Amino acid sequence: MKVIKNAQEIQRFVLEQKAKGHKIGFVPTMGFLHEGHLSLMREAKRTTDINVVSVFVNPAQFGPNEDFETYPRDFEHDKQLVEAAGMDVLFYPSVEEIYSDQDLIQMTVTKRTNVLCGTSRPGHFDGVVTVLTKLFHLVQPSVAYFGMKDAQQVAVVQGLIDTLKFPIRIQRVQTVRESDGLAKSSRNVRLSTDERQEAPVIYQTLQWGRDLMKQEGLSMSEAEKRVREKLEASLKLGKVDYLTILSYPELEPKETSGEKILATAVFYKNVRLIDNIIISHQED
Ligand code: PAF
Repeated sequence: MKVIKNAQEIQRFVLEQKAKGHKIGFVPTMGFLHEGHLSLMREAKRTTDINVVSVFVNPAQFGPNEDFETYPRDFEHDKQLVEAAGMDVLFYPSVEEIYSDQDLIQMTVTKRTNVLCGTSRPGHFDGVVTVLTKLFHLVQPSVAYFGMKDAQQVAVVQGLIDTLKFPIRIQRVQTVRESDGLAKSSRNVRLSTDERQEAPVIYQTLQWGRDLMKQEGLSMSEAEKRVREKLEASLKLGKVDYLTILSYPELEPKETSGEKILATAVFYKNVRLIDNIIISHQED
């Protein structure tokens, strides 16, 4: 596996590969890799010829009171995991390689951000689309892989691709779950024993909500109310931050015959957990 730190070098590498007819797969990450990232890499390995993983902690997507400086980093461990996953290139640029004080374009996301977790992270998605625009130009993938745990990010990135006409397909990868259904997250260790026992009810309630919406012709707002009540009644230790049903990927509270997202965030004492389910009337 090659480790590339330089912008021109990664561009040169992908151009050579494309000239040979290879399809490039791209897994963008901020490092400190876990099972969720490994599932993206497995999917990339299965579906594209040459796979690039980037590890870049993007300062532009952290707010002034967020943890950019202390965000966990472990490059050597990440490198071992990326190599073991059979990836071809690990792109590991410095902040100076990606951002320059000569940059003169600022990107602002105008839709899909003032809902769900976006409301508590102003400017976050502006930073995400800025870095991804740069990374997409450098890596020039045919397919980019994103986890559905952060379904709002997937919706925003789809909007970026559609707006700027990148010739890239997003492959959504399903959330990796514990055997009891709790979405895997490095933050789950912050749950107390009792909270950990309760937390699977979050996904169970989302599944209940999905079945409810499929069986009964409820409006989105009626369904949302019933699922929220059910979750609130099931939680003794957690507190619902939000529970919302929106069209997907538009993230609007309008009735649609297309896909919808049922998404929630739940506060526990030391951690806030998020989870979601995509409801498509085509699936069984
Ligand atoms: O999901 C992440 O880790 C980041 O938001 C991403 C997509 C790598 C952009 O910095």
